[in-house]
Amino acid sequence: MSKVLVCRCEDVTLHDFEDAIARGYVDIESVKRYTGFGTGWCQGKGCVALCARLLAERGGDVTMPFTSRPPYHPTALAHLAGLAEVSEADEAAGKAPH
Ligand code: FES
Repeated sequence: MSKVLVCRCEDVTLHDFEDAIARGYVDIESVKRYTGFGTGWCQGKGCVALCARLLAERGGDVTMPFTSRPPYHPTALAHLAGLAEVSEADEAAGKAPH
């Protein structure tokens, strides 16, 4: 059986997702907490819609979306895009690219 990812950031597979449902986690917050989907770098932008649809198709509760949280430290977009080499000293001095 091939490995089907439902969350690329946290390496959550369809098997992991369905296992969580089989264990009785049937609302989106509980499935998120059990599998870790939606907690990666993109904070769910790449997987929440898919996981919500998969859960709804399996009879789960997707009425209460979970709270996504921004990165703990402000992050320059150039950092996320891999366009800039920024040292921690530059970031601390406010010289990071914006
Ligand atoms: S794809 Fe799931 S958190 Fe990014």
